[in-house]
Amino acid sequence: MFSPLSQEAATILQDAFDLKDVSVVWQRPQDPAHGDLATPIALQKAKELGKNPRDIAQVLADGLGDHNDIASVEVAGAGYVNLRLTPAALTAELASARAACSPEEKRTEENPVIVEYSQPNIAKPLGIHHIISTVLGQAIANIYRHMGYLVETVNHIGDWGTQFGKLYVGFQKWGTKDVSDCSVDDLLDIYVRFHEEAEKDPTLDDDARAAFAKIEQGDPELKTFWEETVRISMEEIEKTYKRLNVFIEHEHGESMYEDMMMPILDEGKQKGVFKEGKGGALIAEFPEETHMPPAIVLKADGATIYHTRDLATIQYRIERWHPQAILHVVDVSQELYFKQLFAMGQQLEWESPHWEHVIIGRMSFADRSMSTRKGNILRLEHVLDEAFDRAKEAIKSHGDSIQTDDVDDLAEMMGVGSLSYGVLSQNRKMNMIFDWDKFLSFDGNSAPYLQYTHARARSVLRKGPGPGSGQGLESLEEKERVLVGTLLQFATSLEEARAQHMPHILANYLYQLCQDFNTFYNDTPILKAEQPERSLRLQLTELTADVLKVGAELLTLRVPDRM
Ligand code: ARG
Repeated sequence: MFSPLSQEAATILQDAFDLKDVSVVWQRPQDPAHGDLATPIALQKAKELGKNPRDIAQVLADGLGDHNDIASVEVAGAGYVNLRLTPAALTAELASARAACSPEEKRTEENPVIVEYSQPNIAKPLGIHHIISTVLGQAIANIYRHMGYLVETVNHIGDWGTQFGKLYVGFQKWGTKDVSDCSVDDLLDIYVRFHEEAEKDPTLDDDARAAFAKIEQGDPELKTFWEETVRISMEEIEKTYKRLNVFIEHEHGESMYEDMMMPILDEGKQKGVFKEGKGGALIAEFPEETHMPPAIVLKADGATIYHTRDLATIQYRIERWHPQAILHVVDVSQELYFKQLFAMGQQLEWESPHWEHVIIGRMSFADRSMSTRKGNILRLEHVLDEAFDRAKEAIKSHGDSIQTDDVDDLAEMMGVGSLSYGVLSQNRKMNMIFDWDKFLSFDGNSAPYLQYTHARARSVLRKGPGPGSGQGLESLEEKERVLVGTLLQFATSLEEARAQHMPHILANYLYQLCQDFNTFYNDTPILKAEQPERSLRLQLTELTADVLKVGAELLTLRVPDRM
């Protein structure tokens, strides 16, 4: 924030203390009573200069004393410099928040960032836990794009493995119609039944393995069966993605990498990275200090495994995109797995982008009955339906205080949004707590609260003529000042959310903005105010609505103009 002031402050310190390359960062103090901006620079330089930090701070404060943009400046605490800006300077800076609402110019000279997320194993439909990787990955990709990065989004679909053999065997035994006429529910029934029966009769598992081997060998009948089940599953999954406002550009099934693995094994052998292990298996070993056990890349029976396929995946992406970064948004249980994978890529001396396993926690349920459903999985589609129903109920129970022309659309926006926001507003590294009441609440850190606040701001704007310039303000009310300060942090919170791959930083920021706006709205006349206050307040209202809308959309949410 306020880069000219950083320059100014640096020059003052450099001249006074004969320093070089001082860089002064101004931050917004937690407590608004401490002013608009503060810097700890004097504390940081005290040791180097062998001086009392308060004395250094005083020099800086004196130097800034008659700056045009500064209303007052003081030394505080152990040596902070706190300052208040003039209303004119503060409101002029709002242009930066406005600018942050538009996508940044594309960084066409940079290589793309690859974001891999969702990654369902598709012999089964999406379960509720899939929502985490799916919306987190989408939000991360959206934020990167907004900041001008080139992004390629990839779905690494589990479309290969014995589970398809299980489906085939089950289908032969209990299927009642042509596979192409089956729904996902039919397939799921067969899958569940297979597992029940296989508990009693383990030979079924052998049959399933044999059937999958035939798919691998390209048996025409089995291959067609496999293609059909993949198609049926993906069509269903696409519908769910649409409801979640998720769009993944590249759907790359694991099956795609079948032919790419052998050459990599050869390369690894040649480079001495893959060595003979027990019984003829191929393994990669890692330096002692990494404390990582060896990874198998080829089993003794000649079968490739999950790691082998991921090596092919990485090689494919490197050759196709030469990415600056590859992000895998995946459950924490695969932490060691990804460390080993990246280490192998390095040992093979492949082009190495920034590789990151973007770790996500698991889901737990505030409502015990949700976690104890056995056999059948708790399907994401059904949870979305329930969220829709609950949102519709909530809308009805609010009577006239919620107004909309399209109840169903609003309920979908709120219901689905509340689930996505419920996930995205939590720190992804922690276990996610799934809590209906909290997610759908109208006044907590929730999607409906954000949506409601947005609609409220828009409704003010509908009633008054557009914001004027607000020029000539002599002073700002405390609540206005707080709101301005929060608006000015939009760009920083976006950048933090991007750099750390932590969308909850953006979500928490939006929540803060909603709170500050609502306090301002409740206490300060907007449309009834005199000029130039009226103009400024309308400006703040409009900017709040814009920031909420852009921020919410980056988090995959939709916001209504009226509600
Ligand atoms: N489908 C996998 C699973 O369910 C996750 C895939 C993660 N991505 C990867 N490139 N291995 O465990």
